This record gives sequence, structure tokens and C-alpha cells, in this order.
Amino acid sequence: MPEFSSQPNTKPDTSALKHIAFIMDGNGRWAKTKGMPREYGHTVGARVFSDITEYCGDIGIDTVTVYAFSTENWKRPKREVDAIMKLFGDYIKKAADTMMKRNIRIIFLGSKAPFSEKVQRDMEEIEEKSKNNARTLNIAINYGGRNELVHAVNEAIAAGEPVTEETIGAHLYTKNSPPPDLIVRTGGKMRLSNFLLWQAAYAELYFCDTLWPDFSSADVDRAILEFNGRKRRFGGV
Ligand code: FPP
Repeated sequence: MPEFSSQPNTKPDTSALKHIAFIMDGNGRWAKTKGMPREYGHTVGARVFSDITEYCGDIGIDTVTVYAFSTENWKRPKREVDAIMKLFGDYIKKAADTMMKRNIRIIFLGSKAPFSEKVQRDMEEIEEKSKNNARTLNIAINYGGRNELVHAVNEAIAAGEPVTEETIGAHLYTKNSPPPDLIVRTGGKMRLSNFLLWQAAYAELYFCDTLWPDFSSADVDRAILEFNGRKRRFGGV
């Protein structure tokens, strides 16, 4: 038994944290350490995704965003892409019940066009069914930050609006959410990888070496404790 536990024993203060976002990195490497195929890492990663998003709700965070699949991830081997799409398809089949029980609105960030008609229909149905729920879970899937900006600017122009920070913000996939206060990236890499480029302007960034399938509620607590110790100035002094 260690003399000093590294696990904080009280829930962190989330009063300054309205929106937390996760770059769930490290599934493939985690599987490799177990001598397993990369797909196994995504299977366990999907379970951790459910646990972590649930935990964030339990500690009072209103908006959670996860980076599940980027516009660039289609370049991965077909077998891996298929495995992630299967996990996603299975997840959305069951998600409606969970979201209604937990009072969570689900929103998919990214174009739905590449998904099968069935999956697109399921995605639209959950979004519609959960749209009046109190908290929000944004799932970025087929998402890219640059692509989102191009899409938003084109939408603003097509609507005959001037291109301003306000109109761009109003046409982003995240238009229903405040900007993220904290972006957490697991897996030891220190980059944003085309995630929430516009929205991240004043986000606090937190990087940890833990591979996503090993990420736990105690790691969330640690990230929040660090966040609470930072002084945010938003360009002021
Ligand atoms: C990054 O790890 C992870 C992904 C690209 C996919 C994340 C997907 C899931 C957690 C499952 C999605 C399912 C649902 C239900 C939303 P990596 O493969 O890049 O890891 P590596 O850096 O070790 O190679």
C-alpha cells in the first residue's frame, strides 16, 4: 500500500469547466503492448470512451466532446477502419436509450455523407430524439477542423451573411456548444491533429502519456486539478 496515494479521493471542482474535450490517442500502441491487433485497442478504447463520458457527466461537466475519427483516419488499413466503423455502428444502435436515461443530447461533428444510409439514419434519429436533453456529448466522427471551417464559411456565404467571427461560429458543427475550456490528449503526443482548431483558441491543453485504453476517472481528476490551477487570461493580464 503506498504511503501517499496518487488517486485524489474527492471529486474535483468542475465549476470552471463547462466543456471538456478528449483526443483519445494510443489505442493501437496499447494493443501492441498486449501482443494484440490494433482493432483490439479500439474495442477497449470504445469501452473507456463510454466510461469516461459517463464520469464527466457524473462530476457535473455539461459538455463533453470526443475525437473518434478524423477525416484523415480513412487512410488507415481497411481492416482497422472497418473495425472502428463497426464499433461506432454498434454504439449508436444502443446510444439512444442511454442518452435519454442520462439526459444527454448527442451531436455528431463532421459530415455524415461517407456513412451507410442506415448509419446516417441512426445518427440523425439519435440527434433528433435527444435534442431537448440538458447535457451535450459531441462525437467528432469524420471530423477535421480545417474542413469544418471551410464548411462554416461556405454556409455563411450561401446564407448571404457577412463572414465574421460570429457567423463562422454560428455555422460550425459545434454551434450548440461553448468553446472547450480544457482539451485532454492521451498517448504522449503534443499536438491537436486538426481537432477543434477554431474552438481551441483559448482552451487549456493537457497532455498525458497514458494510452487511451488505460485512461481512468482518476486521470480525468488529475487533468481537472491541473486545469483548476491554471490562470486563464483570454488575452488580458
Ligand atoms: C487513436 O488511437 C484512436 C482512434 C483513431 C480511434 C478512436 C476510436 C475509438 C475510441 C472507438 C470509437 C468508438 C466510438 C463508439 C465513438 P490510435 O489508433 O491512433 O493509437 P496509436 O497512436 O497508438 O496508433
